[in-house]
Amino acid sequence: MTYQPAVLTHGGAGRPVPETPGAREDAAKVCQQAAQAGLELLARGGTDAALQAAIAAAMILEDDPRFNAGTGGNLRLDGSLELDASVATSDGRFAAVACLRATKNPVLVAQALLKTPHVLLCGEGATRFARQQGFPEAAMVTEKALARWKAARERLASGNLRPYEQKWKDMQFHGTIGAVSRAADGSFAVSCSTGGTSMMLPGRVGDTPIWGAGVYAGEHGAVCATGHGELCIKRMGAFLVYQRIAQGQHPQEAVDAEVKAFPPPYEVGFIALSRQHQGIGATDGYMPAGAAG
Ligand code: GLY
Repeated sequence: MTYQPAVLTHGGAGRPVPETPGAREDAAKVCQQAAQAGLELLARGGTDAALQAAIAAAMILEDDPRFNAGTGGNLRLDGSLELDASVATSDGRFAAVACLRATKNPVLVAQALLKTPHVLLCGEGATRFARQQGFPEAAMVTEKALARWKAARERLASGNLRPYEQKWKDMQFHGTIGAVSRAADGSFAVSCSTGGTSMMLPGRVGDTPIWGAGVYAGEHGAVCATGHGELCIKRMGAFLVYQRIAQGQHPQEAVDAEVKAFPPPYEVGFIALSRQHQGIGATDGYMPAGAAG
């Protein structure tokens, strides 16, 4: 049996929603280009086509400084940049890196980790592994990330925090990126990458590199999450969506149900593929996304 190859991408859910004229459309356009690039790889077929497609799509978004992943990722409160990423496939492979420093494409380091017995490397060990694998040190901090960092520090100092910042009161500007893919042979893959939130301690890890929280893939489909990482870990967001799909729910209904169940003011978004269908959804409806196939 063959399936319709497909790739979905997202550019992150969460506030503030970009208000600059054209910014939302531009973000959606890049997500669409990334999905299309992934689909082209699926069309070529070959080994591990679903994984190659999910990674290729994620790299386009990691390299675009408008997204909070790879280049342009949010800075920690101490001004450092630490990145999380993961990859997973429907045949049970999963690998992730957390708090990785100065490395251009964290999804590629996660992919390299698939060759080892480990599933998660973090901090200094992850960065050393990246260098050993031939990923050079790279300058990743953008002017925009610096401006976001300064604004976050000012809000923290003044106490003028946003409604969802009350635990830092707690700050979020997510914008994680991710991709899910379905190959013609019915295999699935997912990739996810993030700079985290914009008000966070060094060493903080969100949902992106956590199996079942940020990503999940199995024989029924693949799911990628974005949004408030702490809650997504506690709720096992990606797994809940997958479980609904495995029980026969349409992926759109599965995504909508989990978005609805996510407790406000925290925000979340998902992309999900099943064997026949797709689902894309986020709190308040804002999440740039692409769909090809
Ligand atoms: N969802 C990305 C993060 O919270 O780190």
